[in-house]
Amino acid sequence: MEQAETYNLIRRYQRIDSTNRIALALGEEGAPHGSVILADEQSDGRGRLSRKFVSPPGGLYLSVVLRPDLPMESVPLITLAAGNACAVSIEKSSGVEVRLKWPNDLYCHGRKIGGILTQAGSYDQLSGSIPYVVVGIGLNINTNTADFPRELRNKVSSLLSLTGKEADIDSLFDILVRKLLAEIVLLQKDPEHILSTWRKRDYLMGTMLTWEKPNGEQLHGIGSGLMSDGRYLLTTSGGDDYPVLAGDIIISHINGQNIK
Ligand code: BTN
Repeated sequence: MEQAETYNLIRRYQRIDSTNRIALALGEEGAPHGSVILADEQSDGRGRLSRKFVSPPGGLYLSVVLRPDLPMESVPLITLAAGNACAVSIEKSSGVEVRLKWPNDLYCHGRKIGGILTQAGSYDQLSGSIPYVVVGIGLNINTNTADFPRELRNKVSSLLSLTGKEADIDSLFDILVRKLLAEIVLLQKDPEHILSTWRKRDYLMGTMLTWEKPNGEQLHGIGSGLMSDGRYLLTTSGGDDYPVLAGDIIISHINGQNIK
C-alpha cells in the first residue's frame, strides 16, 4: 500500500518529557501513518543508546508515527531516509551544509546540530511485520549553546550560531515532515536511491574511527562507507572489513584534537 505524503499534527506541547514517548503510545493506539507530535522543549528527550537528548527552547523536537510497507530488514534504512530529509530541509531553509554521521547524527562544521531516534513497535507474529515505527527528530535551530551542559558546549552547534540569524521553526517543521514522508514513499519504491543520497553526505567516510561494540570492546579503523543493508563498514589497518550494525562509532582524535 502506498502512503500519502500529508501529515496530521496531533499535538503541540510547549514542554513535554519526550515526543517519542507520546508518539509510541499513539502508535500503540492505532494512530495512522503521518501522525505528528511537536514540542518547543523537552524535559527528558531520548537519544540513541539510551542517552539523553538535551532539548532546550529554540529547538525543533518532533516525532512522526509511520506505518511503512517495508520488510523487517529495511527498518534501519528509515533512519537514513530521515537523515536525508533533515539534511535537505536544513540546507533549503538556511543554506548550511549538513553531513550525516552514521546512523543518526547531523553535523555542520564539525559539530552536532541534531539527531534522529527511530523506535519500532513490537513485531507482530500474525502479520510477520512491525506495525508502526516512530521517527523522532531533534534539531538545534534557534538554540543558544549556553543552554547546553558545559561538557557538550564545544561539541554541539545550532543554525542560529552558524548563520547568526533566527530561523522560522514552523516553516522548517512543515518542510521537514513533508520531506520525511516523501522519503518514506521513495524508500518503499527505490531503497538504493535513499542509500546513494545518504552516501553523498557521509561524514565518516575515510576518517579514523573507533567502534565501541555493545559488549564494550573497541575496534579501530577507517570509515569505508554505507552498505546496502544500512550497516556501516569499518576497515582496520590490517585490511579487514567489519560491518557495524550496533554500538557507537566515535571519530578518533589526535593529540586531543578532533581530526575532522
Ligand atoms: C540522538 O542524538 O541520539 C537522537 C536524538 C533524537 C531526539 C529526538 S527529539 C524528538 C524526539 N523525542 C525524543 O525524546 N527524542 C527524539
